[in-house]
Amino acid sequence: MSQLPVYNPPSPFLGYLPAGLGLYRKVVIRGKMTHDQFNINLQAGPNVNPRDDAPLHISIRPKDQVIVRNTYQFKSWGIEERHGGCPIQKKSYFDIQITVKPDSYSIAVNGCHFCEFAHRQPYASVRFIHIGEGAQVDAMITE
Ligand code: GAL
Repeated sequence: MSQLPVYNPPSPFLGYLPAGLGLYRKVVIRGKMTHDQFNINLQAGPNVNPRDDAPLHISIRPKDQVIVRNTYQFKSWGIEERHGGCPIQKKSYFDIQITVKPDSYSIAVNGCHFCEFAHRQPYASVRFIHIGEGAQVDAMITE
């Protein structure tokens, strides 16, 4: 585990956000999609098995042409949001930017707005970012 910014982390990887997420903070993840699925979790605690509550889960699945957004709470998944297709292809580079807004996370992919994800859990509880396997990540940054 290390504090963001993190460059060329292995995957899976757990990054620490000591100050948490404030309004209009951004989390940027850049890398190359190497497999059919890559998951990003903004979560309250460091545990992944079972996972601590995750106010935002993003699952990039180019094969299924979907980027699933969800929350994880009390050891179970919430309701998936799946519209918008998957602008990230396998073996291609991507840039995901998550901006904390008052009512939602605003998610941009490769510089284009992709979706909003309305808060279901307080963004202020986020302290960790966990990435799974499936991508070669160049950078995880907070702005
Ligand atoms: C499941 C998947 C999890 C997570 C979840 C999101 O099917 O196994 O990794 O992506 O969907 O709703």
